Amino acid sequence: MLVSLLLTALLGASQDFDNGLDVPYVPSPSEVVTGMLKLAEVKSTDFVIDLGCGDGRIVIAAAKEFDARGLGYDLDPERIREARELATKSGVADRVKFVEKNLFDAEIKQASVVTLYLLPGVNQKLKPRLLSELKPGTRVVSHSFDMGDWKPVKQVEVGGRKLHLWIVPQR
Ligand SMILES: C[S@@+](CC[C@H](N)C(=O)[O-])C[C@H]1O[C@@H](n2cnc3c(N)ncnc32)[C@H](O)[C@@H]1O
Repeated sequence: MLVSLLLTALLGASQDFDNGLDVPYVPSPSEVVTGMLKLAEVKSTDFVIDLGCGDGRIVIAAAKEFDARGLGYDLDPERIREARELATKSGVADRVKFVEKNLFDAEIKQASVVTLYLLPGVNQKLKPRLLSELKPGTRVVSHSFDMGDWKPVKQVEVGGRKLHLWIVPQR
């Protein structure tokens, strides 16, 4: 699995993982989660969408640590179940929502911040939608992988991981 993931990452190719997933489940470490939210300067007025949310940790941290609201999409029903449980346990179930849905079909226009921990080929495929559907000024943060010729406005390193920030430009 690791070799396959690294090859996919290096080549930017798309690949089917178990259950038709485009990206395997690899959770972001908590310091990286906080780093992503800080890089996006998340505040209480923000609506954070995590595409491929896993156990919901990014959206839940946005609510718990930054008083934001948010939504996570994941194709794996097991992850959505875990995310809803974690939200309840964390006391933020009234501020976050988790939906079982393919991220390529997910509605994203209500976001003021979008978070990604996907793969280069998936970021590339998403890029046209991010640029055309998100409101100008929306912040997009990616753990590890960049967006090709859409250059980030800022990059930081947290816990040995590169984090990238883009701001959706005026159209
Ligand atoms: C690398 S994990 C990141 C999880 C979480 N965002 C984090 O940073 O901890 C990628 C997630 O994307 C989900 N995923 C993969 N392909 C997907 C797709 N086409 N639509 C929605 N979710 C998908 C996987 O189930 C997995 O939970």
